[in-house]
Amino acid sequence: MNINDYVRDIPDFPKKGIIFKDITPALKSPEAFKYIIDKFESTVKDIDFDVIIGPESRGFIFGAPLAYKMGKEFVPVRKPGKLPSEKVSISYELEYGSATLEMHKDAISKGQKVIIVDDILATGGTTEAIIELVKRCGGEVVATLFFAELAFLNPREKLQNVLVESLIQF
Ligand code: PRP
Ligand code: MG
Repeated sequence: MNINDYVRDIPDFPKKGIIFKDITPALKSPEAFKYIIDKFESTVKDIDFDVIIGPESRGFIFGAPLAYKMGKEFVPVRKPGKLPSEKVSISYELEYGSATLEMHKDAISKGQKVIIVDDILATGGTTEAIIELVKRCGGEVVATLFFAELAFLNPREKLQNVLVESLIQF
């Protein structure tokens, strides 16, 4: 399976000059989607962990089936204003402007080991912010797992103290 074939370039989305990496073809193909989730599992099978965090929205798509398959807890990290109970929240810088992410305070307990799963690793800002949220709850991010990494944006500079795994790199 050449999984690269299931990511397509969409020019000028969401803004002129940006080439968007669209992963929906990988979801449309049951074989490709299964390949990705199975590959995720084999990549982290020897790591001791308790929880998978998936960031809204595309992190839900990849994180939840992996949690189900591996019998782990799933915790959603959400965009602002969506979670009903007590929250921890963090704002971080984007290329233009800033973004905020929220997680339930009781979602991670002290000492729990966490893997963050998302579709794309771009600047690393989202992942770096979630690592901080987990730390504030007393947990520890032991690995981060992505379908595709935009290596040309140097995301690993922000993630030097954590294991970073990606199935494909651009
Ligand atoms: C995209 C992507 C990752 C993040 C990567 O999500 O799904 O979560 O950006 O970028 P970064 O490494 O520069 O932080 P986006 O915020 O576009 O939202 P979505 O998942 O809801 O589509
Ligand atoms: Mg996302």
